[in-house]
Amino acid sequence: MTTSTAKKIDCIGEWTPVEEVILSRRSTRAFKKEPLPDFMIRRILEAGRFAPSAGNMQPWKFAVIKSPEILEAMESDAAKIARRMMFVLDYTRSRFRSVFLKPVSKFFIRLLHNELHPVPFGLLNEIAAGRAPVFHHAPAIILILEDQRGVSSPPMDIGICGQNMVLAAHSMGAATCWIGLIKLLMYDPKWKKFFGVKYPYKLNVCIALGWPKVASDGQVPREVQLVEWYEGGMGEAPRIEKQGE
Ligand SMILES: Cc1cc2nc3c(=O)[nH]c(=O)nc-3n(C[C@H](O)[C@H](O)[C@H](O)COP(=O)(O)O)c2cc1C
Repeated sequence: MTTSTAKKIDCIGEWTPVEEVILSRRSTRAFKKEPLPDFMIRRILEAGRFAPSAGNMQPWKFAVIKSPEILEAMESDAAKIARRMMFVLDYTRSRFRSVFLKPVSKFFIRLLHNELHPVPFGLLNEIAAGRAPVFHHAPAIILILEDQRGVSSPPMDIGICGQNMVLAAHSMGAATCWIGLIKLLMYDPKWKKFFGVKYPYKLNVCIALGWPKVASDGQVPREVQLVEWYEGGMGEAPRIEKQGE
């Protein structure tokens, strides 16, 4: 896989402030204890509220979790659910498991291929073993509930809305991390009830938010993209350009 960082792109002139924010943002997994002041959180929510959405349906509902008690309970229950999942899915622990659990595990992996892709699966394993937290001990979390009645593709609207918040936070010097693993809590009816997650709402993602404990160690490389440029007529093949090399 060829990878590159944005710094290598041959650009004309300086990056704009918006580009700077986009290119320097990193996911933060180490937060200071004190949360951002409420006025900053409100500004971040405002960036989300003003996101574009199909048909301007704004298919979202936000919740801000700052209560240390609730944050702690979320972390401990998510880790508990991860442990239960790995107990069922990890067929490598013993010969007995590899014989009897492998087919069950493979069935679930096929069924939940996004959730149990090797990357989140590896992370789940770390969480279950107590080697990684789910919410990175962030002092605040923004839940973005998806209203399934939105038009076109509500999950896409959620992504755009959340990224507006993430970029706004980064532009203020705050740190964020998208947490898809909040889905773990959705396996527990107690948390669905607690956050009011019932039709038309779904909760698939949240944003951990706070002050960064350490400075980011630079960009995570991205794949070089082979971009097709259609510039000639209908009969002409597109010109392929490597983006990011
Ligand atoms: C929708 C979504 C869900 C994510 N879920 C998690 C998560 O549950 N835990 C985590 O530590 N990082 C999560 N991430 C962060 C990604 O791992 C991260 O964005 C990616 O590795 C690229 O690194 P960067 O954000 O520092 O550029 C998620 C990112 C996105 C966009």
